[in-house]
Amino acid sequence: MTGITIREPEMNDAKLLLEYFNELMEERTYLVYDRKMTLREERKWLKEQLEKMKKGKLVFVVAEADGRIVGTARIERKNGRESHLAEFGIAVSKDYRSKGIGKMLWNAGYERAKKLWGGKVRYLILYVFENNDIAQNFYRKLGFKEVARVPNAIRWNDGSLIDDIVMMREF
Ligand SMILES: CC(C)(COP(=O)(O)OP(=O)(O)OC[C@H]1O[C@@H](n2cnc3c(N)ncnc32)[C@H](O)[C@@H]1OP(=O)(O)O)[C@@H](O)C(=O)NCCC(=O)NCCS
Repeated sequence: MTGITIREPEMNDAKLLLEYFNELMEERTYLVYDRKMTLREERKWLKEQLEKMKKGKLVFVVAEADGRIVGTARIERKNGRESHLAEFGIAVSKDYRSKGIGKMLWNAGYERAKKLWGGKVRYLILYVFENNDIAQNFYRKLGFKEVARVPNAIRWNDGSLIDDIVMMREF
């Protein structure tokens, strides 16, 4: 693995992001979305993300290594009566996990979010499948605590229904 760059995405990342995303879909990992995207869909999605970033509603960073995008982290501020909350989401490509990239993405995303929303956002919130021990470990290290469970919210790969865990921490 060559060096890792953490940066914001741009419109011409659509193809790299599509490859990254579709590989996660093929793996059937711990994400709510469960089907591959087309390049057209990816472009539309990316355009929306970049617009939210421009409006100061979203922090989005990607990890680049070996000419690929191998990780992403998003922190999105909520609206209206929830605007003191921001939701965190993260993933790293299979071959690049447990090398510190998740931590790097968190550090970069959190630093940007603090600059943008310090004093306005009070809590970070996230959702994690009950069978995703590694991610729960990761989040606990970052200071998140389980605050609730939504029973049977997720249909797992074997067809069984599992809980979605809600975790929060102070911003
Ligand atoms: C959760 C995830 C983003 C962590 O990213 P990562 O780059 O592998 O994490 P890092 O290497 O930075 O490790 C950070 C911490 O995560 C935990 N962790 C990472 N790999 C682990 C492993 N194989 N076993 C147990 N804990 C592990 C550890 O607490 C670790 O801290 P440490 O290095 O001090 O022990 C990554 O595993 C992933 O993308 N998983 C699949 C998708 C997913 O589950 N996304 C979250 C959905 S809610």
